[in-house]
Formats: sequence, structure tokens, C-alpha cells
Amino acid sequence: MAHLFNRNVLLGVSGGIAAYKSAELVRQLQELGANVRVIMTRGAQEFITPLTLQALSSNPVHTELLDEYAEMGMGHIELARWADLLLIAPATADLIARLSTGRADDLLSTVALATAAPLMLAPAMNQQMWKDPATTANIGTLSVRGARIIGPAAGQQACGDVGLGRMEEPSTIAGAAASLFENSQLAGKRIMITAGPTREALDPVRYISNNSSGKMGYALAAAAVDAGAITTLVSGPVALAPPDRIRFLSVQSAEQMLQQCIELLPECDIFIGCAAVADYRPAKVENQKIKKAQNEMTLQLVRNPDIVSAVAANKYRPYTVGFAAETNNVVAYARDKMQRKGLDMMVANDVSNQTIGFNSDNNAVTVLWRDGEKILELASKASIAQHIVHLIAHQTRKNN
Ligand code: PMT
Repeated sequence: MAHLFNRNVLLGVSGGIAAYKSAELVRQLQELGANVRVIMTRGAQEFITPLTLQALSSNPVHTELLDEYAEMGMGHIELARWADLLLIAPATADLIARLSTGRADDLLSTVALATAAPLMLAPAMNQQMWKDPATTANIGTLSVRGARIIGPAAGQQACGDVGLGRMEEPSTIAGAAASLFENSQLAGKRIMITAGPTREALDPVRYISNNSSGKMGYALAAAAVDAGAITTLVSGPVALAPPDRIRFLSVQSAEQMLQQCIELLPECDIFIGCAAVADYRPAKVENQKIKKAQNEMTLQLVRNPDIVSAVAANKYRPYTVGFAAETNNVVAYARDKMQRKGLDMMVANDVSNQTIGFNSDNNAVTVLWRDGEKILELASKASIAQHIVHLIAHQTRKNN
């Protein structure tokens, strides 16, 4: 089912009798998981009070463009940036006309110009106004620019007329908003992703670890869940909040990570090993804090199990994807690693570049599979993750 979890919906309410239905629309959007903020035009406030929509949305309602106080907090540009969707319901004939000519003469029309988010309109007006060629032309202009138009519906109108012009029902509008974000490339697939570093204890207070922040693996988990996958994230210790709608398992060491992953393999169709697993761990973990006795200290390390290889060799073998962190000959070494570890896909990550890879917000990678590869240029980890998920969906469909 389509949903709006984690989506920021900016609801614009303009001045028509259908504005009273906005209260129910706020509730319906929230039920689908959306964060809702509301902008009301002056006309809308004649039909329903900002206080009602403030109480329902649990956020202050925005009404003025030139509001010193609001501009200190969430001003019009912040609102425009915050929105994943600008939904205007009801959208009156006047507002539609102003939007079609690019006017910015109140807060709602200004935000509509300032936002890069998709625009969805639920028109509501008298049936004759809807039929008027001016409205038809304005709607045509907005549609060509990419606005989605929901309704209007036909029926008895508040003015007594019968015809097309009633605002669509809130449940229909909320459903249409949710379907905008629907992405079912991995619908029903069970995906497990490892992320972050592992910590290999030396004593009760010390450990060996690395700089992985978990950002890449967490972005993959968010992209997988957005693509409809039933997602499990097995994470080493990081400072990130887990994405919503996933099963989250927190581990410390490579051995714990291996155990969790192998235990869950019978329920897994796709595995992505993004974690920076420590290759070695101390041969002995001291029960007490190690004392400084001498000037030098020798640590004996032993090899950790290779998780991604163990997954690829398991009898429940899923489609298995690894990440290769390399500093030179990146693609050649990554392809070799993919073959040695028996993987279906390898994401080659140049970690010699400080602006990508470990602990950065961006990445640039080459994704390799048996008979192909794809370069993903510098982009946010969220965007790289969406591309990787898309490539996995494509390759797994080809293999079936
Ligand atoms: O977490 P971030 O700060 O966002 O950084 C992301 C990242 C740089 C950690 C990530 O993009 C990445 O490259 N992860 C793989 C890091 C790594 O361990 O690479 P490797 O080349 O050493 O290992 C190859 C593959 O084997 C990896 O899939 C790794 O998870 C796996 N491996 C390695 C060792 C081991 N003992 N078990 C494993 O499963």
C-alpha cells in the first residue's frame, strides 16, 4: 500500500467552502505517515481557523509572507525547502490563475514558486467557473509544468449547482499524494544490509575500529524500504538514528555481525555487505583494563571471519552484494575481490578521496556485476543508494 512515512507534506489551503475538509485531509495525510505543515491564504481563514489546523497538524500554521517573527524561524524559503510535496487543497480558481501566471503575491503562491517539490492541486469551485475557458487554460498550463491535478469531483455543490467542481474527498487526495512516492522495484523482497564499523574489544574500555559512520549503509536501508523491500539493517556502533520501517539489529563485533546475518539468511533474498568489518581482532580480550607497564606493547591479532563470503557460500545464498574499499586500482581490485568472495555484485569505492567514502555525506562509486558495470558520479549517499537499489532490482529481475 502507498504511504507517506517520513514525507514532508506542505498543505496549502485557499479560500473556498471546501476548506473545512482540510481538517480531515490533515488527519488522513498523518495516518499515511506524513509530517504535515499548513499554509493558509487570507480567504481560507474565513472558512476555517488556523487554530484548528494547528491543533491537528501539531505545527504552527503559516499565513503571512511578510511576517518578521515567522521569517526568524521557518520562513518561506525554509518551508519551500522542507516540503517533499506541496499539496494545495482546496485550490480555488483565483489561486490556480495566480499560480499559472507565476504570481508571488502571498505566502502560498510565493512558496509554490520557491519550492522544488512536486505540486499537487485539488481544485474546488463552482461548476461554471471550472468550465470557464480561462480556468481550463490555467489548469492546462500548470499540468504542462508538471502539476498533478486531483479532481474535481461531480455532484451537488454548496451554491446549489450540480456538476464538476466539488473538491475530491480527503481520502482520495491523500491516496493520490502517497502514490506519487510509490516505488515498488523491490516490493516484497527481503533485504539485509550491514552498515557501520565493527568494534573489536581489547579490554573492557578499549577497542580496534575504523572511521565508518554508517551513512552509506543507512542510506541503502532507507532506499530499500522506499523501494518496497522488507528491510533488515544489521549495524555496528554509529551515531545515526535507524531509518523508519526497518528491522534494526545492533551489533558490536565482526563475530556478532556474522552470527546475526547467518541466523537471518533463511529469510533473506538480497544481502548487501556495506559494513567496514574489521579484518582482525585481538587474539585475547582482557577482563580488566590493561595497565601501562612497559614502553612498548605488542598486540596479537587474529583474522576475523569474512561475513560477505560466508553469506555467499551459505546454503540459503541470497543475491549477494559487497562493497570494496580501495585506494588504488579501484575497479580492477574490486572486480577481483568480487570473484574471490563469490559475489553477484560489487560496489567499488575509492576511499583515498576524503570527500567520498568513509564518513562523508557524498559518494562516487562504480558498480560491478559479472557482465557489466555502471559508474555512479559524485552525489549524496542517499542518491547513490537509490541508484544501487535500482541496479540490484534490475539485475535480480534479469536473473529470475
Ligand atoms: O559508513 P560510511 O562512513 O558511510 O562509509 C561507507 C564505506 C566506505 C564504509 C562503504 O562505502 C564501504 O566501502 N564499505 C566496505 C568497507 C570494507 O570493509 O571494504 P573491504 O574492501 O575491506 O571489504 C570488501 C567486502 O567484504 C565488504 O562488503 C565488507 O563488508 C566485506 N567484509 C570484509 C571483511 C570481513 N571480515 N567481512 C566482510 O564481510
